[in-house]
Amino acid sequence: MSRFAGKRALVLGVANKRSIAWAIAKRLADEGAELAFTFQGERIESSVRNLAGTVGSKLVTACDVRSDEDVARVFQEVGEVWDGGLDLLVHSVAFAAAEDLEGRFTDTPRDRFWMAVDISAYSLVATARAAEPLLAARGGGSIVTMTYLGGERAVPHYNVMGVAKATLDASVKYLAWDLGEKSIRVNAVSAGPVRTLAARSIAGFTEMERMFEERAPLRRHIDAGDVATAAAYLLSDEAKNVTGTTLYVDAGYHAMGM
Ligand SMILES: NC(=O)c1ccc[n+]([C@@H]2O[C@H](COP(=O)([O-])OP(=O)(O)OC[C@H]3O[C@@H](n4cnc5c(N)ncnc54)[C@H](O)[C@@H]3O)[C@@H](O)[C@H]2O)c1
Repeated sequence: MSRFAGKRALVLGVANKRSIAWAIAKRLADEGAELAFTFQGERIESSVRNLAGTVGSKLVTACDVRSDEDVARVFQEVGEVWDGGLDLLVHSVAFAAAEDLEGRFTDTPRDRFWMAVDISAYSLVATARAAEPLLAARGGGSIVTMTYLGGERAVPHYNVMGVAKATLDASVKYLAWDLGEKSIRVNAVSAGPVRTLAARSIAGFTEMERMFEERAPLRRHIDAGDVATAAAYLLSDEAKNVTGTTLYVDAGYHAMGM
């Protein structure tokens, strides 16, 4: 398939080969997209550069989404390699301090509360704003972010990350309204548990996986490839009239009350 032939995609959030962002990037590349990547921190730079090399990436550049300067520089670099145009933005970034993903949400200190919201939710607003002129230059585009049910219901241990996801979910809707007049779509994929670096920092993740398998209507786990399939749909022209929505890739878990 070449649904993405001639499309240019910027992917934020690859840390290693297990990252959901990497599964999405691979899918886009397999279907013809040109890719650019950002990475956060020197520790993962070589891993991201190696992965990006396997899909012939146009650009690999550092970006800490807490930094307005980094965000501005990234989109300037993207504009330079792609003549001022971008079609697709994949936002697959989240962070909360490990100590806030165990114990009580009630005890979350102010600074770490805002840090989680800044990195995991405001970053979508900042990057969407920076991407807007590049996407508009191509006559529109598609933005996809990654969310989780813990933003809608209380999931023990997910804590402040749930609050950040609630902020992210609302941001998707407001961005969809603002950017829709330029034919820029904004959607989220809500994934069930996938074993990644970020997931490992959640205390009780194994318990979450166990309950998921028992309670999800399909009674099985999902993997990053399933998330990539859904994200690719939302990024593709097949979803040209889909915006401001959340697509659940969770074996049906979100539909259950118990
Ligand atoms: N793994 C799951 O079970 C699951 C389920 C639902 C949603 N998600 C979401 O999927 C997204 C991707 O997570 P993942 O599971 O692939 O884990 P991951 O650890 O592979 O990806 C998280 C990424 O966020 C990046 N990041 C963290 N702080 C950053 C900062 N300040 N600036 C820029 N980048 C920063 C990391 O470098 C990493 O690449 C996250 O939004 C996560 O909440 C994951």
